[in-house]
Amino acid sequence: MSETTSARETWGTRLGLVLAMAGNAIGLGNFLRFPVQATQNGGGAFMIPYFCALIFLAVPLMWCEWAMGRLGGSKGHGTTPGIFTLLWKHPLAKYIGVLGILFPLGVVFYYNYVEAWTLAYSFFSLTGAYFGIADVGSMKQFLNTFQGIGSPWHVSPMGYIFFLITFGLNIWVLSGGISKGIERLANIGMPILFIFAVLLVIRVFTLGTPDPAVPENNIWNGLGFIWNPDFSQLTNSKVWLAAAGQIFFTTSVGFGAIQCYASYLREKDDVVVTGLSTTMTNEFVEVILGGSLAIPIAFAFFGRAETLSIAQGGSFNLGFAAMPIIFQKLAFGKLLGTMWFLLLFIAGITSSVALMQPLITFLKDELGYTHKKALAATACLTFLMAHIAIFGLQAGALDELDFWSGTFGVALFALAETILFVWVLGPDNAWAEIEKGAQVPAPRIFYYIMKYVTPVYLLFLFVSWTVQQGPDVLAMKGVAPADQAWRWAARLALLGVFLGLCWLVSKSKRLKELTEAP
Ligand code: PHE
Repeated sequence: MSETTSARETWGTRLGLVLAMAGNAIGLGNFLRFPVQATQNGGGAFMIPYFCALIFLAVPLMWCEWAMGRLGGSKGHGTTPGIFTLLWKHPLAKYIGVLGILFPLGVVFYYNYVEAWTLAYSFFSLTGAYFGIADVGSMKQFLNTFQGIGSPWHVSPMGYIFFLITFGLNIWVLSGGISKGIERLANIGMPILFIFAVLLVIRVFTLGTPDPAVPENNIWNGLGFIWNPDFSQLTNSKVWLAAAGQIFFTTSVGFGAIQCYASYLREKDDVVVTGLSTTMTNEFVEVILGGSLAIPIAFAFFGRAETLSIAQGGSFNLGFAAMPIIFQKLAFGKLLGTMWFLLLFIAGITSSVALMQPLITFLKDELGYTHKKALAATACLTFLMAHIAIFGLQAGALDELDFWSGTFGVALFALAETILFVWVLGPDNAWAEIEKGAQVPAPRIFYYIMKYVTPVYLLFLFVSWTVQQGPDVLAMKGVAPADQAWRWAARLALLGVFLGLCWLVSKSKRLKELTEAP
């Protein structure tokens, strides 16, 4: 055991760890997904279920995942097949743990492509490529052309080139490993991200009322739109599900990616304060910075009704169609546009490396691959699978990957890990594991939340998602027959990767020893 412990990498500095973990959480979810989810779910109505999910799901699960990861890492197991087996010495545990590698992969299969758009649009902003396109509809057309929608190839040369660049950058960062790759990226990227975000927020706040002829379209009403609570919506289960889904996605909890990063902690490192501070940093960036950018500015320029319809038009309308219109109306628009999209790109890349790292760590820890070999295998798989999201974009392959990995998947995985960590390990042992090395003890109330509220909440979510959305998604309700093939490709890809990982898990001697060890 000791030789594996000393051979494992660790984070270089505490600040680097916090920035890397914050980078993991802060992603496209904060700046693109959050504003659209909040708008689609009625703004103020969304924020109450959102904060409930933060306190009752994300915070306790985050502590569990950090503690689980640190525990696994101290024994040379950085991913959930190993970690779950440590918690439950049953041959099934490692197969359940496969989900903690599968779901991050399911997300990254499409995430890298979207990340590539943000890089491309930084370039387009700098060169003014979309300047002159005057309305949201035409800008949407520009986006679709770039995405290859409607073209016989389903991809545009520009779109593909930027995908290759983005993918290459990801692999380059990952080739440096934990402290020299991911941590270094976070040390450089995160401060830039904060500076850009703050500058853009200042610009938004000093905008006031862009069109004096329509005084009600102003920044303050835009902020009111997301912050004025609407209690009447609290009985709407759709809003609760959407809020929980957003919390999972944005905090990266429930995927397996946090455990992997946490496995590179040192045994005595604090989890309580460090974990909470990165989660809170993510929330600050999401609701304060993310919430102060796209929604209020869209509201000020387009008004309530059009902002709602832009958000209803899908996740990318706001960021890639509405914002470019607004930049053209502002002084230094090219600069502001470049900043907005570079901000998205930095947020994206610090998350996509976190989504790919679990597979790398798994191959190294459990199958004894060298870093090079593990990286090459991960790169090949993610590169190949990304083509399903690329060519199947128009058919909705992205939504398919997102639903199974990011919605249904996380609820299932979070439920499994809570049962294993809290109930199989025992609530007192789990709590002791979290408090080990803590600079400040965690509030005791979370012991009870973790024990009772979180699992019940998760069970409720899992059942609701399965019952309310499962059948329609499964039956591909409303999907044109021509589009179904790509959606099936996405499903089969996930199934294939799942089976492949199960096979690797069954071959791992280290995992077998772990089950058999007394
Ligand atoms: N949290 C990231 C975002 O907000 C996405 C992500 C999910 C990253 C799961 C890692 C693991 O975009």
